[in-house]
Amino acid sequence: MGRGVGFGKVILFNEHFVVYGIPAVVSAVGAKTTALVERKSGSGYELRDDRPESPGYKAEKFQQQKESLDIMLKFMNVDTQHHHYTITLGGDLIAASGVGASAASCAAIARAFSEELNLNFSDESVNEVAYEGEKGYHGTPSGIDNTAATYGGLIWYRREGSAQRMERMRLRKPVGVVMGNTGKVADTKLVVGGVKERKEREPEKYGRLFQEAEQLVVNARKQLEVFNLEKVGAYMNENHRLLQEIGVSSPELDALVKLARDTGALGAKLTGTGRGGYMVALTPGRELQDRVADEIERHGSQALRTLIGV
Ligand code: MEV
Repeated sequence: MGRGVGFGKVILFNEHFVVYGIPAVVSAVGAKTTALVERKSGSGYELRDDRPESPGYKAEKFQQQKESLDIMLKFMNVDTQHHHYTITLGGDLIAASGVGASAASCAAIARAFSEELNLNFSDESVNEVAYEGEKGYHGTPSGIDNTAATYGGLIWYRREGSAQRMERMRLRKPVGVVMGNTGKVADTKLVVGGVKERKEREPEKYGRLFQEAEQLVVNARKQLEVFNLEKVGAYMNENHRLLQEIGVSSPELDALVKLARDTGALGAKLTGTGRGGYMVALTPGRELQDRVADEIERHGSQALRTLIGV
């Protein structure tokens, strides 16, 4: 039996902009997806998906998940003609939009096959396989999600042509965040496609917004490095505004972002694909983290308490 894990993630700055080569910052979250692979005689494969989920997520992603698995099996040269594989997904990462659920499952599956078939994958190879798998969900992934899912930690990420560049970042100490779930499943392919279309239609406006996003993340990185969390929070708020302007927020996300800010979060923004899925609020200290999470739950939404920069 082969086993593997992949980390869930939270994008702190510049989702979407990252698809076009603008740097972004991503952190792993405490929760993980696990994969088990068992090989038997026969042919084909069976997927058992035991991950906890945001209602409707698995059904909605089923087709993309199958596409993703087929791409990965082919890329890894797994022989499904002469062997039968049972792939079981589990772990404590909720299968939902915005937490890197697809990438975490791809990295976990790559690691589990590596162990079962003695492929001796390095992290780099796991990342390559997970990137291929992400194509089933995203179409044109920037590579940020699979990188976070494979390596964990806090990462400065930039796409340069076809190359994926990552640098590890360190925080003085881990910081609490709250992720609030709108409960809506988002289709990354569609939302990323929408940005592309609007960017082509309004090149001047988007050129200006993309420049702002690039400057913002450089400034935010400096503030993360000197651990000025007030300023990091302010940059998260600014980043949310830019994401609103490129059309990837939603009334539900805006409402949760406002709620978190009104409850004392140092900053809040949507995270990941947008149009649904999760938002993230910067909430250093247990007391503030609990206050914001409780308020989100009182509002009827699921809240995830986690740490960034572990
Ligand atoms: C999704 O988690 C992040 C996006 O920027 C897409 C990508 O980078 O591939 C929206």
